[in-house]
Amino acid sequence: QHCFTKSEDGFLYCEGVKVEEIMEVVERRPFYLYSKPQITRNVEAYKEALEGLDSIIGYAIKANNNLKILEHLRSLGCGAVLVSGNELKLALRAGFDPTRCVFNGNGKILEDLVLAAQEGVFVNIDSEFDLENIVAASRIAGKKVNVLLRINPDVDPQVHAYVATGNKNSKFGIRNEKLRWFLDAVKAHPNELKLVGAHCHLGSTITKVDIFRDAAVLMVNYIDEIRSQGFEINYLNIGGGLGIDYYHTGTVLPTPRDLIDTVRELVLSRNLNLIIEPGRSLIANTCCFVNRVTGVKTNGTKNFVVIDGSMAELIRPSLYGAYQHIELVSPPSPNAEVSTFDVVGPVCESADFLGKDRELPTPDRGTGLVVHDAGAYCMSMASTYNLKMRPPEYWVEDDGSVSKIRHGETFEDHLRFFEGL
Ligand code: LLP
Repeated sequence: QHCFTKSEDGFLYCEGVKVEEIMEVVERRPFYLYSKPQITRNVEAYKEALEGLDSIIGYAIKANNNLKILEHLRSLGCGAVLVSGNELKLALRAGFDPTRCVFNGNGKILEDLVLAAQEGVFVNIDSEFDLENIVAASRIAGKKVNVLLRINPDVDPQVHAYVATGNKNSKFGIRNEKLRWFLDAVKAHPNELKLVGAHCHLGSTITKVDIFRDAAVLMVNYIDEIRSQGFEINYLNIGGGLGIDYYHTGTVLPTPRDLIDTVRELVLSRNLNLIIEPGRSLIANTCCFVNRVTGVKTNGTKNFVVIDGSMAELIRPSLYGAYQHIELVSPPSPNAEVSTFDVVGPVCESADFLGKDRELPTPDRGTGLVVHDAGAYCMSMASTYNLKMRPPEYWVEDDGSVSKIRHGETFEDHLRFFEGL
């Protein structure tokens, strides 16, 4: 069951509610529209997949940091994965149990590490200087920190270079030749550090579970080696990265169950507690970015559909050449010609596109147009370029009612940065 469906007569619905009708009642357009029940279903899929394992679902907050969504994910039993002090503060605000949170990152700063130490979150050691900072934070907080070693396993995730993280020349984690150094360094700080596990994160948008299996095999070998050095470590964190079906072509992609099944025996064989860090696969498919068509034009050999949204609100196509499916929310007029369009925004540069070469019926001005799978890394990466101001967010609730879950940013918000200067 998926939240966004097209009826036979060509209208788009979210959980049975007509998107065109939602467009009439919102604060302004463009806006993000989520399905709360779809978020629940996505979490349930992970929970069911994890049955029989000790585990933590650490939702990667970077994917989407809407407070209402975080509260919902927490209420469903998720932990959280953080990459900044502010993400940690937001996780605490949303009520996440800090002992089910992991603080990740290759450039964590002392101040944020102190907060993490005080709150008792797991911290991943990423480098020599990171270890030094964690030790310093522990002393300032007066608390021992539960740490995991983030290992760079050198497994190619076969994804866009910008979202690959687990290959050997990436800036993340530590390489195996340094493992002994890190184990000695942890041993040298028995009052500050308690090594509890090992972590890796291969990359994002991964569509082959064999890749996770290869990494898990390497990781349990590391865990064996670490244990043989006298450490009692119990956590294997295999990161996030499961991809979703952005193309909507019906290709069957691996599910959370496929992912967990591929590592289950390994995890059980070593009696480990499994931490996973999904972002995209929990939240991407729960949302559409909803726009209106401002107009249609042709230049040279190119046809353009100009919409009110842009690279400011949704940068993935511009930044990674990412494909996100685009469709109209209502049936085309009977005489509408189908053509190939670039779907573009009003921002003043040619990187501003939401989709290239899309077959669409020529839309009338004012028609609703959605960019699908916009729940992950869209709003959280939005900017105010061209003073577009970040859009409002809504969701359809379990009972089919529509609620605002974030105000749209306003011009007045922008002026506030200059108050009193
Ligand atoms: N854990 C770590 C350590 C990560 O770096 C990430 C994502 C995740 C978990 C969550 O990965 P996911 O399950 O969402 O794939 N902005 C890019 C994606 C960047 C991913 C960064 N790290 C995009 O829009 O595709």
